[in-house]
Amino acid sequence: MKLSRIISNQNGTSRKQASALIASGAIAIDGLRCHEPGREVTAFATVTRNGRIIQQGITAHYLMMNKPAGILSATSDPVHTTVIDLINSPTINNLHIAGRLDRASTGLLILTNDGQWSRRLTDPHLKKPKIYRVSTAGPITPETKKHFADGIWFDYEQLRTSPARLEVLGANFARVTIYEGRYHQIKRMFHAVGNRVTALHREQMGTITLDHTLPPGGYRPLTSGEVCSVTDKITAVKTKCGKASRR
Ligand code: URA
Repeated sequence: MKLSRIISNQNGTSRKQASALIASGAIAIDGLRCHEPGREVTAFATVTRNGRIIQQGITAHYLMMNKPAGILSATSDPVHTTVIDLINSPTINNLHIAGRLDRASTGLLILTNDGQWSRRLTDPHLKKPKIYRVSTAGPITPETKKHFADGIWFDYEQLRTSPARLEVLGANFARVTIYEGRYHQIKRMFHAVGNRVTALHREQMGTITLDHTLPPGGYRPLTSGEVCSVTDKITAVKTKCGKASRR
């Protein structure tokens, strides 16, 4: 929200009066004076007027989980256990999932309450890699690599997947890198070349790799380096994700 709107909402004044107040130097964001009425301010920023709090910034949370098989990538479900049910902290609320995994899939799952940040991680235009280890029912043919590199036609969406990288690790075992996150994408890509995925494990998103010390269902806060790797700039982020976050 624009700073002038925050001030006018809080004061019950016009946007013009709010802008004048901001121009006078009375307003600070996270302790730094701001003279720009048009500055976009997130819910994570604390805004003060002459030192008095107008908006208390909420804490941003960024977690990685080693998702176990059989757990739903959803925030709530009437029947099945969800990844949110595994997070045992009363202070971490309103998380969403940055790039779901199918119920049977395992590995790196990122959860946050920062929508702007998660969009940067998952936006296909920003081409952040998502790396998976894949086991298949049939042997992986030599042509599969080229098919994936050329893109696979998805009839339902009427589109071709963007070039994916296939690294064959064994007869029925590969590492696949994709740069988007379409519904059941890897399974459908293998299906399109006459094969079937039997196990899928995500190892990496962007430059964030799964912490191998996390047991299935375990999670930890992202480090500030991991958080900043998504926005590609060094920003002061609050990563107070609670203490006992491993299970
Ligand atoms: N592609 C899939 O098919 N499933 C996942 O869980 C992730 C990517």
